[in-house]
This record gives sequence, C-alpha cells and structure tokens, in this order.
Amino acid sequence: MSPIQVGLVQESWKQVVPIADQAAHLFYGRLFELDPKLRALFKEDMAEQRRKLMAILAAAVEGLNRPVALLPVLRELGRKHLGYGAKPQDYNTVGAALLWTLEQGLGAAFTAEVRAAWTETYGLVASTMQSGANT
Ligand code: HEM
Repeated sequence: MSPIQVGLVQESWKQVVPIADQAAHLFYGRLFELDPKLRALFKEDMAEQRRKLMAILAAAVEGLNRPVALLPVLRELGRKHLGYGAKPQDYNTVGAALLWTLEQGLGAAFTAEVRAAWTETYGLVASTMQSGANT
C-alpha cells in the first residue's frame, strides 16, 4: 500500500469513529443479509461483538504505518476464527459488507480512490488472518 493510500484510509476512518456503533450495526445487518446462515455463528447479543469489530479495525487502521506490531495479533485472531466456524469464502462476504458499510457511512467521501485504499486494507487484514488460520 502506498503512503497516500494509508493516508486515505486513516483520514476516512476518522469520519467513521463518531458513528462506530451505528456503522457496526449496518455492517452486521448487511453481512447477515448477504449470507443469513452466518447469523447462527454469532451470539444472540451482538453489542460486544460490534465493539470488538470496531476496535480491531481501529487498530488495523492505526497499524498501517507499522504493520509489524499488528501482524501477530491478526494471525492469532485468524486462528481463533477457525474455531468460530469462519470459512475462507466468508472473508469475501465480510469484505463486501465492510465496503458497503463504508460507502453508507462516508457518502460522497467514499471516492474511487478511498474505495481502492480500503479494498487493499481489507485484503491485508483478511490475508493475514487467513495465514494465521493455516499454520
Ligand atoms: C477481516 C475480517 C474479520 C475481522 C476483522 C473480524 C474480527 C473479529 C473480532 C475482533 C472478533 C472477536 C474475537 C474475540 O472475542 O477475541 C471476532 C469474532 C467472531 N468473528 Fe470475526 N472477523 C473477521 C472475519 C470473520 C469471518 C469471515 C467470519 C465468518 C463467519 C467471522 C465470524 C466471527 C465469529 C462467529 C466470531 C465469534 C462471535 C462470538 O463470540 O460469538 N469473522 N471477529
């Protein structure tokens, strides 16, 4: 990822932070719409899950400048996801739900460049998690 792309992700994330819980609601709503069978993998009460998702995304966005610190955390998270029942193809569905959510939250600020930068970011997070799931 180029430094410009890192900047686009970090700047756009600042607009998500004040609406984090709302964004997480939108995200899971969209995820379960895209693939209703994923709902059963999660607890009934999603409040804590919403917080955890936004916290790891915040850490990932912040960590784009110094990925070395973040890589072991993401690998371990990916390993845990095997136990949660996450399948490789589910990462595509999660990515689609995340980009859709950012589009809703950012509106006109979600330009083609911002989308491309977030696509890269999600790809890095998901592939690092999956590398942890495969070791
Ligand atoms: C890059 C993509 C993803 C991120 C950043 C992410 C993030 C997280 C985080 C932070 C947690 C909480 C872990 C903990 O409590 O220690 C979690 C739990 C979970 N994730 Fe993911 N996740 C991702 C992809 C997926 C995928 C593809 C699935 C597939 C269905 C999935 C399903 C779950 C489930 C079922 C839980 C456990 C919920 C529970 O405690 O009941 N996640 N995820």
